[in-house]
Amino acid sequence: MRRAVIQGIGSYLPAKVLTNNDLAQFVDTSDEWIVERTGIRERRIAADGETTCHLAVAAARAALADAGIGADAIDLIVLATSTPDNTFPATATSVQAELGMTRGAAFDVQAVCSGFVYALSVADAMVRAGGAERALVIGAETFSRILDWSDRTTCVLFGDGAGAVVLEAQEGQGSVADRGVLATRLHSDGRHKDKLYVDGGPSSTQTVGHLRMEGKEVFKHAVINIASVMGETLADAGLTAEDVDWVVPHQANKRILDSTAKRFGIPESKVVLTVDVHGNTSAASIPLALDVAVKDGRIRRGDLVLMEAMGGGFTWGAALVRW
Ligand code: UT7
Repeated sequence: MRRAVIQGIGSYLPAKVLTNNDLAQFVDTSDEWIVERTGIRERRIAADGETTCHLAVAAARAALADAGIGADAIDLIVLATSTPDNTFPATATSVQAELGMTRGAAFDVQAVCSGFVYALSVADAMVRAGGAERALVIGAETFSRILDWSDRTTCVLFGDGAGAVVLEAQEGQGSVADRGVLATRLHSDGRHKDKLYVDGGPSSTQTVGHLRMEGKEVFKHAVINIASVMGETLADAGLTAEDVDWVVPHQANKRILDSTAKRFGIPESKVVLTVDVHGNTSAASIPLALDVAVKDGRIRRGDLVLMEAMGGGFTWGAALVRW
């Protein structure tokens, strides 16, 4: 059975650190409130002129180096982002050009904070169907550009960054012992589209707009939807929560991660947490967290890793991967 195996991982964070105390200089907030309600202590902010494409290219280069291959070996780029450099073309094509890759296909996927799980699922399906041999799956965001910096209910939550993985087609046995993507599940429910959205766009206002969110509503749905999609994905593979070595969640809020893990019966020690230093980087948060846990030696070859996310739309999903 053909499987899409993760052969390399990399990430990139802009140099500028914005702490909670920095934020308290210009909005009515405090380090204490932000840490207690979200677990966030600091986030990174892209420099002037540093775009989503720049972040994505840096993460992609690190992932290619980790896999020990050049961009010429890649025949698919799927880039998850809600903060593209331009309305079109897809930022993935700019990444393709920067990497010097002239064959294959490159496109963006837009599922906000669920973007990386969506992109991984799409790339996995294409690799398994024979449509690609090696794919770069990237999550990259510059959310600092769509924040209303006078709105304390949203501007304290988000940050910029990028992460990428290299997928490679390999033959597996067709069992859950195989390396690679074992199962993915995607969901959306557009009835909730006004609970987390950006109030601008090319066809509506001809502006970029700012992020707006009903935080409490998002929180409530996130805990329920994430726990349920984690269960569905494990069931698809015939596995249970006890089989999971690591949960790598979308990093939105430590309280969401704690409640979900509790609801799902997974100890906190198995949950990779980076929201304290990255904030919510939307589609970049899962590959950023994965990279941290791989580089510090927690996630090892053969480990069972469950990724999950929920975001605007609402969209939500999970992916189960044997590392
Ligand atoms: O990536 C997926 C999308 N995002 C999420 O998953 C986020 C989901 N939501 C959340 O994480 C939480 O709902 C928030 C962190 C956004 C807010 O936490 P909360 O416990 O739901 O707080 P709240 O909105 O009920 O606000 C409580 C109080 C309010 O004051 P009053 O009305 O009680 O006087 C807010 O005005 O906290 C106030 N508040 C703040 N105070 C200081 C809101 N933001 C801030 C702030 N600093 N930054």
